[in-house]
Amino acid sequence: MSVKTITKKSGLRGEITIPGDKSISHRSIMLGSIALGTTEITNFLEGADCMSTIGCFRRMGVEIERKADCVLVHGKGMRGLSAPNNTLSVGNSGTTTRLLSGILAGQNFTSVMSGDASLNSRPMGRIIAPLRDMGADITSINGDSCAPLKISPGTLRGISYRSPVASAQVKSAILLAGLYAEGDTHVTEPALSRNHTELMLQSFGVDVATAFHADGSAAAEVHPCLELYGQQIYVPGDISSAAYFIAAGALVPGSELLIKNAGTNTTRAGFLKVCEAMGADLTLMSESNTGGEPRSDILVRTSTLKGTVIEGTLIPSLIDEIPMLAVMAACAEGTTVIRDAAELKVKETNRIDTITAGLKAMGADVTPTDDGMIIHGKGAPRKDNTPLRGAEIQSFLDHRIAMSFAVAGLTASGETRIIDSQCVDVSYPGFFETLKRLYSA
Ligand code: S3P
Repeated sequence: MSVKTITKKSGLRGEITIPGDKSISHRSIMLGSIALGTTEITNFLEGADCMSTIGCFRRMGVEIERKADCVLVHGKGMRGLSAPNNTLSVGNSGTTTRLLSGILAGQNFTSVMSGDASLNSRPMGRIIAPLRDMGADITSINGDSCAPLKISPGTLRGISYRSPVASAQVKSAILLAGLYAEGDTHVTEPALSRNHTELMLQSFGVDVATAFHADGSAAAEVHPCLELYGQQIYVPGDISSAAYFIAAGALVPGSELLIKNAGTNTTRAGFLKVCEAMGADLTLMSESNTGGEPRSDILVRTSTLKGTVIEGTLIPSLIDEIPMLAVMAACAEGTTVIRDAAELKVKETNRIDTITAGLKAMGADVTPTDDGMIIHGKGAPRKDNTPLRGAEIQSFLDHRIAMSFAVAGLTASGETRIIDSQCVDVSYPGFFETLKRLYSA
């Protein structure tokens, strides 16, 4: 177990280059592995989750080289993966498990995926049901709709699936299986979730279409394909990782931070919209775009935040940033209501519970609800106002809880101790070192 101690700071200054996007990094390994030829990935995120994806594909015979400035995936083609000689270890990674299920459903060998205690208790029924509709032979080994999952060869056919949840992992599992199916595959979701799979499939030459409906729902359609061909992929910085530093810059008095290279895909940029609604002082600069994925530098200066309502179709575009937004809400003027976010319960932890526990330990006024929470903010951290008090924060091995409460600790009285802080390696190895650089400069 490692513990990080954080104390109150002022005047954060400096530039941070955000590490690669976790979702896009996973997808680059997956599509590179089932493509023919070599895929060169620049700015790949070497976090534990993405290393789980690399480990799985290596076990299926894919050569993946980690060079100084890129990762090379020597793809095997759509049907060139080989049967793994052991269980595929997916660690803490829901993205690995769910997306890989779609690919494994199309293979001519049997495989088993299993992860850590958190992963093996997360719901997999949401992918098992549609993949079975497509003809996949996929079972939960313990019969509890969770991993370990066993996937055996099946003959896939395209389906039209109406997903009850806005989940990119569900959508992607179905679209990836759709590559191997007979006929077209459609997925409709109640609100548009992150679209990195669709964008990257397009870059690999796959025929994918997306459509939006007046009621806010979104549909994606994929045509089966014979082969994908290796590509060059540039992974933008992860907006979910940038969020901690945007929040730190906004909350810690007298700060000015330049956050470089953050991905700003609109299906992920809900955090920026909410920051704006809360009155954060953000300037987007040097905008560019590679492979359909936009990115930007973001200048953030301290400001006084105000409460807001976070709900509806915005939720999927900021679902991973809610722990950070909840801390910001506790340090804002007025009330913040977060609703329509029941998905928080099935993340690496039940984040309605783990956010509430952390905020309460720090003296915030938070009431959990069935699909979110209500937070009465105690005003902006200033010389004469310290809205939070330092506390021992259990991360419950949830990387986003650890990082969000580390930022909270920068504004709090006394010491904040983050328990099991090593879990940040899941998405942001080096997080604490980067944070420290900003206040020890
Ligand atoms: C992800 C999708 C989201 C997100 C997760 C990564 C992805 O999950 O919370 O961290 O890479 O597709 P859901 O699809 O379950 O909402």
